[in-house]
Amino acid sequence: MYCAGLPLSLVLMVLLPVGTAALPGLSDGTFDWRSSLPSLWGKRSAEKRSSTGAYESEANGTEFLWITQDVYEGPSFFDRWTFFDQGDPTHGAVNFTDEQTAFANGLVYVTAENVVVMKGDNTTWLPAGAVRESVRISSITQYNGGLFILDLNRAPWGCGVWPAFWTCGPNWPYGGEIDVLEGVHDNEHNQVTWHTGPGCSLTAGDNFTGTVVGELDCDGTISGNPGCGITEWSSASYGPYFDSQGGGVFAMKWDDEGIAVWNFYRAAIPQDITDGQSPNPSGWGQPAAQLAPSGCNPLTMFSNHSIIFDITFCGDWAGNSYSTSGCPGTCAERVQDPSNFVNASWEINSLKVYKKQWVAGKVSGAEGVLDIRTMTLLLSGMLVGLIGVW
Ligand SMILES: *[C@@H]1O[C@H](CO)[C@@H](O)[C@H](O)[C@H]1NC(C)=O
Ligand SMILES: *[C@@H]1O[C@H](CO)[C@@H](O)[C@H](O)[C@H]1NC(C)=O
Ligand SMILES: *[C@@H]1O[C@H](CO)[C@@H](O)[C@H](O)[C@H]1NC(C)=O
Ligand SMILES: *[C@@H]1O[C@H](CO)[C@@H](O)[C@H](O)[C@H]1NC(C)=O
Ligand SMILES: *[C@@H]1O[C@H](CO)[C@@H](O)[C@H](O)[C@H]1NC(C)=O
Ligand SMILES: *[C@@H]1O[C@H](CO)[C@@H](O)[C@H](O)[C@H]1NC(C)=O
Repeated sequence: MYCAGLPLSLVLMVLLPVGTAALPGLSDGTFDWRSSLPSLWGKRSAEKRSSTGAYESEANGTEFLWITQDVYEGPSFFDRWTFFDQGDPTHGAVNFTDEQTAFANGLVYVTAENVVVMKGDNTTWLPAGAVRESVRISSITQYNGGLFILDLNRAPWGCGVWPAFWTCGPNWPYGGEIDVLEGVHDNEHNQVTWHTGPGCSLTAGDNFTGTVVGELDCDGTISGNPGCGITEWSSASYGPYFDSQGGGVFAMKWDDEGIAVWNFYRAAIPQDITDGQSPNPSGWGQPAAQLAPSGCNPLTMFSNHSIIFDITFCGDWAGNSYSTSGCPGTCAERVQDPSNFVNASWEINSLKVYKKQWVAGKVSGAEGVLDIRTMTLLLSGMLVGLIGVW
């Protein structure tokens, strides 16, 4: 079951030309990502761990931990994915290869340093009108919520390039789609987008640092509806600056509190994410983007999602926006020369999925909390009487 027929974020790019000069906090060419760090560090240090341990709290006060559900990394990364080898539903000038071809042609591999690489073909000259080989993979495991943390050194970019890291349910758009990392060309601002059936809207003025792109209505059944999207303020959230400072982490939290996305530069990744045991989103500050439950039920509008990575070229977004992007020539010409795709690569350290584990017995006192937490992490699944599983 693939998200066949799904149009990713298509039309949104029409509303957000390359350069995005109207957005706040943009690079003026003298970008210094370090200047953005103090606020992040400030929030980190304000985290109140000592009183609550590493617990997170539901709105009703019930405490829980995010515990590891799935880890995708290193040599085993590709074991639990399906390679989509059909025509691109978004009309890209792309040939999504099957798994065997992808490995044989060096489009996917794992380096000696355990970095997972997925890339478009960057070695083959193409005749006019031919399509460029690339990859699109979907996780075999489907999710109905969770905390998804992607640590990557590079995300694909460049003129004519359109990559996405996203999740999607069956029967598009009714199963919902969450585009966590997506952009085109040399853009510097990641765009987070949701597509759903009728009855789901962004709530303007909610607590996120990004900028709403177009419509608030996420309904993908409305003719021509691009979904609802938020562009990140940071000019290192996509493209050249994201890659040149070593990438970073994208985190997507999907639970009864809504769907939120955070993005951290390499140097500002919270310690609890680096530790990887039991991350605490409540200490990460405002998300870059959020779909709040006040305007959209995150548990009924989104279900049975596979995680997807892809890189396509031209097509509905990168093709239709090409002429206004500042990129040279035409997108069709661009596709022919392999040297145009040297930066069209995912380089992934890990993708980790966490699920909630509720702690039924409320324990007071820091030492007790830490003891229970340690036990929970060590014996998760065995503390049947104390714990409810997501
Ligand atoms: C608290 O909220 C969580 C999440 O909505 C829910 O699963 C749980 O049942 C609630 N607990 C109580 C005691 O209401
Ligand atoms: C896509 O790639 C496969 C494997 O290399 C090849 O057999 C097929 O002809 C290609 N399709 C197109 C449309 O180029
Ligand atoms: C925004 O965040 C503040 C502080 O965390 C909270 O009190 C408020 O309810 C939030 N507003 C919305 C609309 O979520
Ligand atoms: C999600 O998957 C489960 C298990 O395959 C299935 O029973 C359920 O109907 C699916 N839900 C939706 C909304 O497709
Ligand atoms: C690839 O990235 C490098 C480093 O940012 C840049 O100088 C170069 O122009 C990029 N090439 C393409 C084809 O985008
Ligand atoms: C193609 O891309 C890979 C992965 O980014 C890179 O290591 C390699 O140097 C590139 N090849 C060429 C010829 O640019």
